[in-house]
Amino acid sequence: MSEKKHRVSRRQFLNYTLTGVGGFMAAGMMMPMVRFALDPVLRPAEEQDLVQVVKVEEITNEPQRFDFKIKQVDAWYESEETRSAWVYKDGEKIVALSPICKHLGCTVNWNSDPANPNKFFCPCHYGLYEKNGKNVPGTPPLAPLDVYDHAVKDSYLFLGKAKPRKEA
Ligand code: FES
Repeated sequence: MSEKKHRVSRRQFLNYTLTGVGGFMAAGMMMPMVRFALDPVLRPAEEQDLVQVVKVEEITNEPQRFDFKIKQVDAWYESEETRSAWVYKDGEKIVALSPICKHLGCTVNWNSDPANPNKFFCPCHYGLYEKNGKNVPGTPPLAPLDVYDHAVKDSYLFLGKAKPRKEA
């Protein structure tokens, strides 16, 4: 009975060892570089928290539309996006509503339908909202307009993100 011998020569041993150690060291050097290169892709898109929009003294009891720009960073791509808000004073309170209709995303206008005065009107499918943004029952939108986070600083109104309301 012959026993098959698997012997590793000194040269082979040295080759395996150097390849293994070399590969390990190369991986150690490459990992931070790969991580650095991919880092922007792995990060979620960022946008400015609060943006200065208008002087508080310009805000009236009647909703007015104000446009503002926000900076966005998505991986390596930086961009500016224009947003709008319907803003008015309700007593001492400032209300800032998103103009995006909750039905299919058209833009709503204030007081633009002569048949329905003092309401937000969406021309796409005749959606209606009250001044406070609540959807009028019996019209296509099934939820109130989103409300912007806001803050007042140095006599200016700053707006953040528009969020759906918690109450129906
Ligand atoms: S998108 Fe506004 S009513 Fe349909």
